[in-house]
Parts: sequence; C-alpha cells; structure tokens
Amino acid sequence: MKRIGFFAVIVLVLSCLNDKNQPSPTSSGADTNSGTVSNPSTPASATCSPDTVYFNQTILPLITSNCAMSGCHDAISHKEGVILTDYTHIRAYSSTTNPANSTLYRSIVTGYMPPKGPLAASQMTSLLKWMQQGAKNNSCLASGNCVATNVSFANTILPTLRTNCTGCHSGSSPSAGIDLNSYATVKVQAANGKLVGTISHAAGYIAMPSATVSISACEISQIKAWVTEGTLNN
Ligand code: HEC
Repeated sequence: MKRIGFFAVIVLVLSCLNDKNQPSPTSSGADTNSGTVSNPSTPASATCSPDTVYFNQTILPLITSNCAMSGCHDAISHKEGVILTDYTHIRAYSSTTNPANSTLYRSIVTGYMPPKGPLAASQMTSLLKWMQQGAKNNSCLASGNCVATNVSFANTILPTLRTNCTGCHSGSSPSAGIDLNSYATVKVQAANGKLVGTISHAAGYIAMPSATVSISACEISQIKAWVTEGTLNN
C-alpha cells in the first residue's frame, strides 16, 4: 500500500514538472508581438451575439476554474512559471494568427492539461473560437435580460456553478471538501449561508471564485433569489 501511495505521489509531481516535449511559454505558438498582449478591454456590450465568445463571461471563468486553482496556475503557485488568472496572462499563451498551435490550446487539446482530466469538447471549441475572433478582452453583460424570479436550479443555478466553480469544487477531492456539482451538496452550502456569502464577497466569507474575480451581478442575484425562494430542486 505504502509503495503504491508513493508511486502515485511521484506521478503527480512529475505531471506538474516541466516536460521538455510539451509547449512552453516561449514556443512558437504564442504571439511574440507584446503589443497585442496589452489589448485594452473593449467596453461591455449590452446585446450579446450568440456567435461571439466573450472573454469575461466564458474564457475567464473556464480558465480560472480549471487552471488557476490553488496549487496550479494561480499567482502564488504559478507551476512552470505559468500564471493564468487574468486577461494579460491568458492572452500571452494564446494566438490569433495560429490558434490551434497556441500554447494554451495545445496544452489542453493534447490532454496534457488540466492534469485532473480533459475539458469538455464544447469548452475547447469556445477557447479556439475566442482566439479565432481575435482573443479580445470583451464582455457581454445583457443587463436587461436578467431574470431573477422563479429561478430554476437545473436550468440556471447548476450551469452557473459548472461554469464558475466546479473546476475546483467537484471530483474526488474538491476544494475545501465542498462539491458544487449536485443539488444535495449545493443545498448544504446555501443553508449555511456560505454560497451567497462567498459569491457576494461579503465580510466574513472567503471571496469566490477568487478575491479578484466575481461572477456577474445577474448571476449573484439569481443565486440569492433561488435561496430565498426556498432552494428548490426545480
Ligand atoms: C480556483 C479554484 C476555485 C474556484 C473556481 C472556486 N473555489 Fe470556492 N474554494 C476554493 C478553495 C481553495 C477554498 C478553500 C479556501 C480556504 O480555505 O482558504 C474554497 C472555499 C469555498 C467555500 C467555503 C468557504 C468557507 O468560508 O468555508 C465555498 C462556499 C466556496 N468555495 C464556494 C465557491 C463558489 C460558489 C464558487 C463559484 C462561484 C467557487 N467556490 C469557485 C477554490 C475555488
């Protein structure tokens, strides 16, 4: 048993160490023109195009939840020197001229990252499309369309949690021992006040998804409404 445990640790450590055959930040996949990295944030548009992949609504939560967790590519751990917590850093590993060959896309599509298991095909497609569309720091808030009454767990709450939280809060060893991928386990965090406290960055709670990243105001109001409406399994 001891030997098996030791072996598992070695495999885990090796999977985090730099592999010379794998893409590195300086490989040709990344755009070298640093001018493109400091793309200014484009103003949030009020009408969302279904054909556009928005950085702040899709790519940032995807990367934050699956790659920037503690111990991996967050600012403190920065495994292999890679930080993936914000636009500038994520943009540096992306490419608009050859998206399929970008460091970020290749490391994911080859199954090298994330170590805990592959992203969904739809998530990889979104990442590629975002680069093909110019890897912009764009946002779509659609504030007029926020419906925060009769909120459905299955259609609204769970998809929000799966976009923003389950990269860390699911699987065999979820962060803080908290699984947010099922009704029963989410209900527990709703009942103890931590679900609403963490997402609204309230005093006395650990800010989630991180101290610098919030889910949208609409998503927060939907989760609050779902809680006050009785945390129904609807
Ligand atoms: C990048 C990884 C990551 C993401 C994404 C993330 N969390 Fe966390 N979460 C953690 C870690 C790590 C802890 C434990 C923090 C600590 O103890 O300092 C934690 C703790 C928590 C706690 C317990 C807080 C407490 O006071 O005990 C809740 C509730 C929680 N997260 C909810 C969420 C929700 C809701 C989301 C999505 C909106 C989310 N988390 C997204 C990593 C993450």
